[in-house]
Order: sequence, then C-alpha cells, then structure tokens
Amino acid sequence: MKAKTASASKTISTKIVLPNDTNVLGNLMGGQLLNWMDVTGGIAAHRHCGRVVVTASVNNVSFNHPIALGDIVTIEAKVSRAFTSSMEVFMDVLVERRSTGEKRKCNEAIYTFVAVDQNGSSIEVPEIIPETELEKLRFESALRRRQLSLILAGKMKPNEANELKALFDS
Ligand SMILES: CC(C)(COP(=O)(O)OP(=O)(O)OC[C@H]1O[C@@H](n2cnc3c(N)ncnc32)[C@H](O)[C@@H]1OP(=O)(O)O)[C@@H](O)C(=O)NCCC(=O)NCCS
Repeated sequence: MKAKTASASKTISTKIVLPNDTNVLGNLMGGQLLNWMDVTGGIAAHRHCGRVVVTASVNNVSFNHPIALGDIVTIEAKVSRAFTSSMEVFMDVLVERRSTGEKRKCNEAIYTFVAVDQNGSSIEVPEIIPETELEKLRFESALRRRQLSLILAGKMKPNEANELKALFDS
C-alpha cells in the first residue's frame, strides 16, 4: 500500500455560529463543535485511506476560548499518523470575529478514526509521510497518544506502553 503525505488529507470546514448552535450565554455549544470536528476529521481520514471510516475515540479536546454567536469558525484537519487500520487526525480550530475580522486559534482536538469494510471489520490503511516540522512533531508524539488512549479504553495494559514509560523514565 503506497504511503501518502499528511497534506494530501488536509480538510477545511468553515461554519458560522447560528442561534441554534449556542448555549444560554450566546456561545457555541461544545457538543456542536465536537460534531463539526467529527465530520471534518472523518473526511480527512477518508481522504487518506479512501475507505469508510468510523470514530474510534476522541483523544483530546481543549476549549480554550468561548466562540460567540455570529463568529466564523474554520476547522483544519490532517491525518497526523496512520497505524494498521487506525488514523490519528489533528484539528486546529480558528475563529474569525465578524465585527473586527480578527482571527485567533481557539481550540485543538485529536480524534482517532478506523477504516472498516462493509461488515464493519477494521482494514489496513496507507502509512503517512510527514513533511513539515509540525507534521513531524505530531507524527512522533502520536504513538504516545495512541498508547494512552488504548490504556484508557482498557485495550492495553499500562506495563505494555513502552513509549509512555520512556517519557516518564527520561
Ligand atoms: C472502532 C472499531 C472499529 C474498533 O474495533 P475493534 O474490534 O477494537 O478492532 P481492532 O481491535 O481490530 O482495532 C482496530 C483499530 O482501532 C484502534 N482502536 C480501537 N479502540 C481505540 C481507542 N479507544 N483509541 C485509539 N485506537 C483505538 C486499535 O488500536 C486498532 O488500531 P490499529 O489497527 O491501527 O492497530 C469498533 O470498536 C467500532 O466499530 N466502534 C464503533 C465506532 C462508531 O460507531 N463510532 C461512532 C460512535 S457513535
């Protein structure tokens, strides 16, 4: 299976925060943003492997700044690393204030998607070639995040997580 660059999976979604998307403070609800990221990240994973993908886990999401009604939200997703059938997708969330045009990064998220066949069984995906410094950094650290996610899901024993152990031993 031919390896593909991280940039080939790049997917960008742009949304505007409407009244139905907000909480009682007039800010975007976290669940709505999770949904937008799930769809955008799923498309990035699909672009990498060309197969149906399902969300296996939401590894990390940080809501650092509130996003207000009327703000324009851009989600940029790229596959940071592919394993056998799973792909880690890194997302950056940028927010543009309509009144001032000011743009800032508000959130980051990391999801894991798995490629499946028509029976829902996991299938192999191509490897990722990281090119930029940031892509290389995210590629290197993806193994630790995968081990942490599998431990939290009860699918790996802590004493099998060599990459994580090395982090604490260094
Ligand atoms: C995701 C799913 C296909 C994995 O099935 P499974 O029986 O655990 O399959 P496997 O053991 O073969 O694991 C498949 C891959 O998923 C990865 N995986 C499974 N759970 C994971 C988790 N919590 N975090 C990170 N990776 C995970 C495994 O490490 C493996 O990766 P690899 O092939 O790259 O090594 C299955 O659990 C599923 O269909 N889940 C429901 C998905 C869904 O409906 N999502 C929407 C939620 S509403």
